[in-house]
Amino acid sequence: MAGEQDLMEKIVSLAKRRGFIYPSSEIYGGINGFWDYGPLGVELKRNIKDAWWNDFVRCPPLGPDGRPIQMVGLDCSIIMNPKVWEASGHVTGFNDPMVDCTLCKSRYRADKVFTVAFIPREKALEFFEQQDEAVRAYEKDSDSAERYAKERLFRSMDNAIFNPAVRLGIEAETPEEAKEKALAALPAKQRKGLGLEPVRIWWSPIRESRGRPSVCPRCGGQLTEARKFNLMFETYVGAMQDSSSKAYLRPETAQGIFANYKNVLDTTRIKVPFGIAQIGKAFRNEINPRNFTFRSREFEQMEIEFFCHPGQADQWYKWWRDTRYAWYTGLGLKSSKLRLRDHEKEELAHYARACADVEYEFPFGVSELEGIANRTDFDLSQHQKFSGRDMTYFDDETKERFLPYVIEPSGGCDRAALAFLCEAYCEDEAPDENGAMQKRTVLRFHPRLAPIKVAIFPLVKKDGMPERAMEIYSALRVNMTAVYDEKGAVGRRYRRQDEAGTPFCLTVDGQTMQDGTVTIRDRDSMKQDRIPGAPAALLAYIQEHLRQ
Ligand code: GAP
Repeated sequence: MAGEQDLMEKIVSLAKRRGFIYPSSEIYGGINGFWDYGPLGVELKRNIKDAWWNDFVRCPPLGPDGRPIQMVGLDCSIIMNPKVWEASGHVTGFNDPMVDCTLCKSRYRADKVFTVAFIPREKALEFFEQQDEAVRAYEKDSDSAERYAKERLFRSMDNAIFNPAVRLGIEAETPEEAKEKALAALPAKQRKGLGLEPVRIWWSPIRESRGRPSVCPRCGGQLTEARKFNLMFETYVGAMQDSSSKAYLRPETAQGIFANYKNVLDTTRIKVPFGIAQIGKAFRNEINPRNFTFRSREFEQMEIEFFCHPGQADQWYKWWRDTRYAWYTGLGLKSSKLRLRDHEKEELAHYARACADVEYEFPFGVSELEGIANRTDFDLSQHQKFSGRDMTYFDDETKERFLPYVIEPSGGCDRAALAFLCEAYCEDEAPDENGAMQKRTVLRFHPRLAPIKVAIFPLVKKDGMPERAMEIYSALRVNMTAVYDEKGAVGRRYRRQDEAGTPFCLTVDGQTMQDGTVTIRDRDSMKQDRIPGAPAALLAYIQEHLRQ
């Protein structure tokens, strides 16, 4: 755990130092949950969006029947008619239960804050035995007075057992993570006093708390009961600030697609099954932004709504689920760290027929990158009801009229960028100018995602080498992100590019001036090859390798 935390700190620090991600408005102390992408970060993010757009809109894979699938794109406004959010259910249902600390006023999502109590092993065993007995008696006897007495017994046992115990407030995604974090946070002295392996019991303000007080992770104060909190950012449109001008910053890009589904059908020759894709900003007033950019208040989504015949929805769902998973592995996320988790029935939203999450093992734990859901005809029927517009589709071949089902692969661009960054981060060794091995930090991005594709160096700043290197740079930058660097020893220049994740470095040296060849160094193997240095040949060489 400590190692993983350390790794996350290194990634956050590299991201800042090399210009991937900065805290937003940092000169004023920042603002929680908002991030800015620096010169390298913006290229990384753009490459992710371009790869997604290219692979799913411009040139999508063949469908389950081996035929090309039909996809188009949209770019909708962020502020929409507020009725959209009534129809979608966000006005009434987009709530997170939250709790506040009564002392320091910190606010947490009730399902992501845990209280972990440590009990000496001896005492815990005694308690569990008594509890089992009480449960058996409780099950036998349904009389309400008796039940009340037993409840009190539970409570008094709880008190007896919890009062002397250590109690820690922990922010975590899961109870397991909370228990691990609590163990790591427990001072060695207290841990010793509780026995080597104290039993850890957890509860969250909305799960299994049975009235036990929950503790603030920041100050140890008591947390309030859970209250609902709508996550949509509100704003006002026009000069008046009253309920008639209230509007929302969209919390997802999906609804813009549903609202335009008829427009797309009426203005193109597209037929069901087809998909509409959109990439854009979404805003959620998250109670507790955390884990770097993972949970932010402003983020970008990459969403597809795929409209199909209800009878084919199961097949399309499986296809999208597997295709989206494969996209991440194809761009370098190791399958050992990537999971496709089908939701249990109880986890499904009331309208969803099936759902799966693509999850990635971040240094801070396994968390969702993307959700793929069979949303049935829920959204279209809601918009039909609220707008009064007919959302049905008429199939002129089968003469059937129906409301299409929707398969929705919904991913976050920032979460993808964070996963690619974590996956790429690597420390190994490289020889310095004197041949001594030194620690190096390298970002092993898939070449398609690397912010800079090629760096061009003159070996020394004389003998015509800078001019030749500049010529190559000027020719290559027309087709790809390239940098020119002549500062410092060449080994140090390589190291700078390794940290930025640049897959290729070209060096113009003495031999270049004689036979026109240059060296090309591969970021991962650090192997150098000598290849023809004519710009057209270099371009062909690099493009060929970028495609792999
Ligand atoms: N239209 C469905 C929808 O919005 P979601 O699971 O709430 O579903 C989809 O969001 C994706 O958007 C998530 O898988 C995640 O990648 C990204 N996302 C959601 N909330 C986010 C946040 N607060 N910060 C960063 N990314 C977020």
